[in-house]
Amino acid sequence: MDLPVNILIIDDERGSRESLRMILKHSYNVFTADSGQEALDIIRQVPIDLVTLDLRMPAMNGSDVLREIKNCNPDIDVVIVTGYGTLKSATEAIRFGVFDYILKPFNVADIMSVVKRSVEKRHFDQRQKDIIKDLGNICDGDGTGRKVDAESGSDDLFMSIEKVISRSAPDLRRDTASVDYLEFVRVLGATLESNDPYTHGHSDRVHHYAIMLAHHLGFKGRQAEEIQIAAFLHDIGKIGVTNKCIQKGEKLTDIEKALVREHPEKAIDLVGPLKLAPSILSIIKHHHERYDGKGYPAGLAGDQIPIAARIISVADAYDAMTSDRPYRKALPQEVVIYELLDGSGSQFDPFLVDRFVALIRSDDFVPPSRAAVLL
Ligand SMILES: [Fe+2]
Repeated sequence: MDLPVNILIIDDERGSRESLRMILKHSYNVFTADSGQEALDIIRQVPIDLVTLDLRMPAMNGSDVLREIKNCNPDIDVVIVTGYGTLKSATEAIRFGVFDYILKPFNVADIMSVVKRSVEKRHFDQRQKDIIKDLGNICDGDGTGRKVDAESGSDDLFMSIEKVISRSAPDLRRDTASVDYLEFVRVLGATLESNDPYTHGHSDRVHHYAIMLAHHLGFKGRQAEEIQIAAFLHDIGKIGVTNKCIQKGEKLTDIEKALVREHPEKAIDLVGPLKLAPSILSIIKHHHERYDGKGYPAGLAGDQIPIAARIISVADAYDAMTSDRPYRKALPQEVVIYELLDGSGSQFDPFLVDRFVALIRSDDFVPPSRAAVLL
């Protein structure tokens, strides 16, 4: 069960302090302070998760309070709520890592949405820490004091991860459509790529592009959920192979290429304990098939490839080309579009390329950094 969320409202004006308290008190534990000093006293006694901070206060101003809060506990999210926003104050706030910046007069929806985002982020971070800890325990706990070598791609590592998955997921297995389940697979995908600067965030971004295209094509309900789960897990089979081969700044040898090409099928073994629907496994397995039949692992062509795998293939290629790689910088958008169109009908489903290119050129396109994950 999730712990209650503690929010501290810091504002010297009673009116705005009270209205914030009224908005938040039904969903969260709310504390209030009318000065920076009082706020810091509370923070030293209560595990505060999020602070809303007025910038202009007598005695200790908001910037000083912000600095002290971050010194005291850098994990506290700070949302600036001010009637006197300036470029200087906003720049300063960003420098100190504020979570968000809201101008007075604020509205209920804005406040609730910012707080909800912060809570979701904390929850996600906590789940990720739990899984990392669990992985660490398993890697340390083979009785020999030997750590499993994360770079070896060894069977040991696979078995360890399988154990973590079976241990962490059993209560979630029953309902793969739940937000909890989607979050779990998101955390799992992100955790396993978190040590690699070149794949960090990849599954999240592929999920983002894939579900955007899927929604654009009218996918809903179970079909859309299957794409989401598969997008988060599609490259999970690269664990172990990634550090050794994917990060390599030079051409891969044939043996390394063969190792990388095994990842869709390795992913299927790895997620076995999750007891995913065969349709989801099929999307993961076939996300590297090509429309002309020259892909892997099965050499399927055209409509033989599940449409969700064809969607992920386009999203995957788009993310790969728009991200930095050890051997090149991210490509400009127009070059990426050219490459997608060039691969239309050979690597990619032409219909999907057509729709995806139209989408990324339209106002409906939201880059992943600006979007909450569309769970
Ligand atoms: Fe892949």
